[in-house]
Amino acid sequence: MPVQERPTATDEVVVLDYGGQYSQLIARRVRECGVFSELLPYHVGAEEVARRKPRGLILSGGPASVYAQGAPRLDRGLLELGIPVLGICYGMQLLAHELGGRVEGADVGEFGRSSLTVSEPGRLLAGTPHEQTCWMSHRDTVFAPPVGARALAASTGSPVAAFEDVGSERYGIQFHPEVVHTPYGQHVLTTFLEEVCGCQRGWSPESIVAQQIERIRAQVGDAAVICGLSGGVDSSVAALLVHQAVGDQLTCVFVDHGLMRKNEGEQVIEAFRDRFGIALVAVDASDRFLRALQGKTDPELKRKTIGAEFIRVFEEEAARLADAHFLVQGTLYSDVIESGGGTGAATIKSHHNVGGLPEDLRFELVEPLRALFKDEVRAVGVELGLPERLVWRQPFPGPGLAIRIVGGEATKERLEVLREADAILQDEIRKAGLYRELWQSFCVLPDIRTVGVQGDERTYGHVVVIRAVTSDDAMTADWARLPYDLLEQIASRMINEIREVNRVVLDITSKPPGTIEWE
Ligand code: XMP
Repeated sequence: MPVQERPTATDEVVVLDYGGQYSQLIARRVRECGVFSELLPYHVGAEEVARRKPRGLILSGGPASVYAQGAPRLDRGLLELGIPVLGICYGMQLLAHELGGRVEGADVGEFGRSSLTVSEPGRLLAGTPHEQTCWMSHRDTVFAPPVGARALAASTGSPVAAFEDVGSERYGIQFHPEVVHTPYGQHVLTTFLEEVCGCQRGWSPESIVAQQIERIRAQVGDAAVICGLSGGVDSSVAALLVHQAVGDQLTCVFVDHGLMRKNEGEQVIEAFRDRFGIALVAVDASDRFLRALQGKTDPELKRKTIGAEFIRVFEEEAARLADAHFLVQGTLYSDVIESGGGTGAATIKSHHNVGGLPEDLRFELVEPLRALFKDEVRAVGVELGLPERLVWRQPFPGPGLAIRIVGGEATKERLEVLREADAILQDEIRKAGLYRELWQSFCVLPDIRTVGVQGDERTYGHVVVIRAVTSDDAMTADWARLPYDLLEQIASRMINEIREVNRVVLDITSKPPGTIEWE
């Protein structure tokens, strides 16, 4: 991410990523404190960090031992930037190891909840109780703090669980302040940001909106801009930001491929055209997509077909807006990090980009969400007046319901059955107040029939599968423990209200080993 994306009026703290599972979360928590933060790979070098003029530096946790061959080292130049440094977990061990403290491998690790006893709160732990709970995840342990630093706390498995050297502005904590299981974690982070680094709270949805509007105007000038709307929160918020910035220069294109959920297409049109008065070209291309999908049962073939058709329709519409020079894309900060901009680990699955646009389109990209995490995108959506339904919409795959008709062709009739079943599921989940708690909830329609008996008649009908999962990032997921009564209500409504359905089953597979979608 170019460094100039940071608003000049906002203080920044850089988080260096040593490969810990919570590194992104640290950056998010810093932002929740109202301070802008970027997550950079640990090896970026002091110069790259200095260019951002940060007010502080946080070294994240990581899986290595400081004694392991090839373990990430501390770049000494970072300690000469004249800014406070906070090491968390591995970051703390690095500071101790490099600066004359003592780190040793312990026989027993300390994982999960632990009791922290504060002997001296010092500056970093000021305002937190003598005894508190914290979350630990380490095997190596700090036995002596760096030379010149004093130990502040110990825990069940860590003789030195926190230290500080106020004079040279070096701080370390063995526990994870970023996870909710450390009740005073956010307090400690706030202390570091405000008291130690002297940061001002300037990062907020309002400041993001103001900053992005300025940037978009500077990039776009008076040229025409085009934006593909999918109904998801990312493209919706990106479109609204651009509309606020350049008004009528923006035209949105919404391709209805006929594979959306019930009423979702209408909701998009209503929100954007009617409520926000945005120029919106809505293309009903459902017949075209259905034709293209005829006879296709293989999941990857379905995806490719839909992806290719989508590009064709979008390009045709874009050609009508011949003077458009810019294209809006809802790329998020986590995409930037995961595709190598941060940790260097390319973890995005390529098939998840199906339904996106090819890179060789003639447009220049406008990416107003490139610096934002998903929760910030939602907060900006609320700030801009996006309807609640769109702000909180669960993720939905680009190829839509077609990849939820499993092992068979996505025909109009099957799509109808699946859409109705899905509408009942959503309705009941919303009524139960569970919609936001679930990462995704949806129905799957396998291409099989089962025998049933309804009234006095033998039936041979469709099976609907209920899939509901909790997750933080879709990389792993757990099947949601929906209440039995709710499941019964959903099943009975589906069977009563949809003639073709005579059986409802629940998917209780987590990810891994399963995936969230069925194909
Ligand atoms: P899986 O099934 O791999 O899904 O556990 C992880 C997340 O990705 C979504 N998904 C897709 N999104 N195009 C998309 O835009 C696709 O082809 C696609 N396949 C899966 C899925 O809904 C879940 O959120």
